[in-house]
Amino acid sequence: MGKDTFYLTTPIYYVNDKPHIGHAYTTILGDVLSRCHRLLGEPTHFLTGTDEHGQKVEQAAKRNGVSPLEHCNTYVKRFQELWERLGISNDDFIRTTEERHIIVVQKILQDLWDRQLIYQADYEGWYCVGCERYFTEKDLNNGHCPDCGRTVDKLVEKNYFFKMSQFQQQLIDHINAHPRFLMPLNRRQETLGFLKQPLGDLCISRAKSRLSWGIELPFDHDYVTYVWFDALVNYISAVGYLADDAEFNTWWPASYHLIGKDILTTHAVYWPTMLMAMNLPLPETIFAHGWWLTPPPPTAQADNAQATAAGVKMSKSLGNVVNPMDMADKYGVDALRYFLMAAMALGQDANFSEEAFVTRFNADLANNLGNLLSRATKMIEKNCEGKLPSATEPGADEQELIASVQNAVASMRNAIENMQLDRGIAEVMVAANATNRYFDTMKPWVLAKAGDTAALGRVLRNTAEALRIIAGLLYPVMPNKMTELRRLLGVPEERVTPVMNQLEHWNQLPDGATIGTLATPLFPRIDLAK
Ligand code: MSP
Repeated sequence: MGKDTFYLTTPIYYVNDKPHIGHAYTTILGDVLSRCHRLLGEPTHFLTGTDEHGQKVEQAAKRNGVSPLEHCNTYVKRFQELWERLGISNDDFIRTTEERHIIVVQKILQDLWDRQLIYQADYEGWYCVGCERYFTEKDLNNGHCPDCGRTVDKLVEKNYFFKMSQFQQQLIDHINAHPRFLMPLNRRQETLGFLKQPLGDLCISRAKSRLSWGIELPFDHDYVTYVWFDALVNYISAVGYLADDAEFNTWWPASYHLIGKDILTTHAVYWPTMLMAMNLPLPETIFAHGWWLTPPPPTAQADNAQATAAGVKMSKSLGNVVNPMDMADKYGVDALRYFLMAAMALGQDANFSEEAFVTRFNADLANNLGNLLSRATKMIEKNCEGKLPSATEPGADEQELIASVQNAVASMRNAIENMQLDRGIAEVMVAANATNRYFDTMKPWVLAKAGDTAALGRVLRNTAEALRIIAGLLYPVMPNKMTELRRLLGVPEERVTPVMNQLEHWNQLPDGATIGTLATPLFPRIDLAK
């Protein structure tokens, strides 16, 4: 609001396991949105990273027989390598074990302690090791953790608390006054529902006797910081909070914190109250997306018709976890990115199946877009010596084509603004269909046979213009393939990375540009039977 820069974050991932399709989804979504905002010409900063402290990491290191830091150093590479492979264009990568982060967390803790916003008290309650969270008696589900269902331990110990309760009303008021603060709407309602109960204070310490892998409290060396209090701070420590005011003021407040729906409360309640205590502005939008599920096994379908529609959560024990690297190796990075963006309505859950992947790939990329491209480039090669025919005044048929392509441009703008990428992508596919229709109606192969070079040139030129714009709109989703496509069409190298206002104008390709030809199709059709 008022800020003309765009700052987007993903959750920072736990380094206790290797990344799966869910992690890949959030990061690809972050990448696509960042590229969309760069397309719009906004200065953009895209942050991702890893959450390296806490019990889960300490336990994983113990299992592997190495020190926690050694464990982190090994596992962080898996994330970094995957992001490189998936074409993630993050501007920064933060690890919570970095000095630049630790210093800021400790300064914040000291300041809140000095201002009595953190206090010491005896804690009595229940602790879930798996979730690293404390629960009161009434939170428990039949004596078990309400989140993961595991057994919990009874605890009585001295601890430190953040006065979260003090900010409850201020948070409710903020949510009510800012309709875009929590998106989508159901998550906003969920949070307001949660805030109907009195908000407690937040225990932000862990005794070193039980957990030593964390950031030490500056005012009590026997304790480390609760991992969430540490992790959430990454969003400001990474952009120079308390270290570089110019940098910090350029990017903060964040435009979007992208999260999965599983970590809503920590982001929509803990984090904003922490920021209020620090007297910092709140992020503009916290956006919670849904979960990728896998279709249930056939037996479950027979037993339970509802399970079929709902899908099953991916988990190691069920053995249904999809590995993003495998999908990228098998079908290509851009195809994976396309499927993840096109097949999930932002905010809702969706099922991930290879069959759905292949069906969509063939329909949208091989048959619609890819086929159009190879037909157009082949005809230019054969009939125009591989040179792009010159621009001409558009006739009625072209006006119709231009209108449908421009409709896709407007839809994409709208989709970016309203976080409805799947709808934007669908409209681009409508435009690709319209271009195919134009091509089929104009029958350039008949014009070629009849020797009508003027009409033939017009059809091929306008098809190429439509393809240039379509590829520009899909560039954030498929940066590699769409760059290749734009190069084939003769887009000059300095303009090969698209900007939105060039996509709003027709006839931007240079007359006579050399049009490339494809040795193999851009998106070769996949045979599901194989
Ligand atoms: N470390 C915390 C986040 C701290 S942010 C200050 C954490 N890490 S995590 O490794 O468990 O990753 C969580 C994120 O991965 C989720 O919020 C979600 O974005 C994503 N996903 C994990 N599994 C998922 C699916 N099956 N589907 C979609 N995304 C899910 O929580």
